[in-house]
Amino acid sequence: MRIVNTDQAEAWNGPEGANWAEQGDRDDPVNAALTGALLAAAGIGPEDHVLDVGCGTGETTRLAARLADRGRVTGIDLSAPMLEQARAAASAAGLRHVEFVRSDAQVHPFPDASFDVAISQFGIMFFADPVAAFANLRSALRPGGRLAFVCPRDMADNAWYVAPMSALRQGRGTGRLPESAMFSLADPVRLTHVLGRAGFTDVRPRPLDAPMNFGRDVEQAADWYLGSGPVMAVLQQENGPTAKAARAILVETLRPYEGPEGVRIPGANWLVTAVRP
Ligand SMILES: C[S@@+](CC[C@H](N)C(=O)[O-])C[C@H]1O[C@@H](n2cnc3c(N)ncnc32)[C@H](O)[C@@H]1O
Repeated sequence: MRIVNTDQAEAWNGPEGANWAEQGDRDDPVNAALTGALLAAAGIGPEDHVLDVGCGTGETTRLAARLADRGRVTGIDLSAPMLEQARAAASAAGLRHVEFVRSDAQVHPFPDASFDVAISQFGIMFFADPVAAFANLRSALRPGGRLAFVCPRDMADNAWYVAPMSALRQGRGTGRLPESAMFSLADPVRLTHVLGRAGFTDVRPRPLDAPMNFGRDVEQAADWYLGSGPVMAVLQQENGPTAKAARAILVETLRPYEGPEGVRIPGANWLVTAVRP
């Protein structure tokens, strides 16, 4: 297995991956409307061969497998703990036409033109060399094959990130929130340029606004945030809050978003489709 995104591999095989693996145990780990829009845009047919990039614990992989019930679905991810859970869940669901590969999607040697469609839900923003990574995905698709993914728009439009992160940094003289890889494709001009250079055509980013679900209550949501990469980075700073103080700040900040359906915070994303010519 060749890995070039070593920082990402470290993060997703460490506490952050463990945190997401735990989140995968929940009933509604991600927003159903958002996932539904992604799958509809991908237009998966019953015999399609589907690639799920950065599949994590495999929720989208399993949903794609139900659509491609006579096809084949491959989930690729860097994270061993998340893939372990993905494999167990697919097996428990009796989905025999699903496989999971632990590898770096930027450089994985996919057989040429072997997929009809590639999807990704928040798994394609972390590439060190996005043009190379998308070119690799492009050559994994057959001519006419489709790419559909969801990625965040501007950080400032994503309350789920800005509200807790600003609250945690308040009064610590840290100023603006630092850049995060999560928002690396937020600029639609850059995004279109990257996909074009990677050899995709018909690149269409469309806004997709949907609340994101972070847990059934503020306690569970605070736990998730405390294990996330950006919050762990704040805690590790010299002037950062203690975990106990951070938890109290998170609970207070998340409280207004708590409702009967859990802790739901607005998210602003792109739903992007493109075609391998
Ligand atoms: C934000 S999580 C999203 C997981 C899942 N798609 C979901 O919606 O729950 C990002 C995922 O992308 C994976 N990832 C990041 N860079 C990757 C790469 N270069 N190759 C394969 N997977 C990658 C991470 O391991 C992680 O599981």
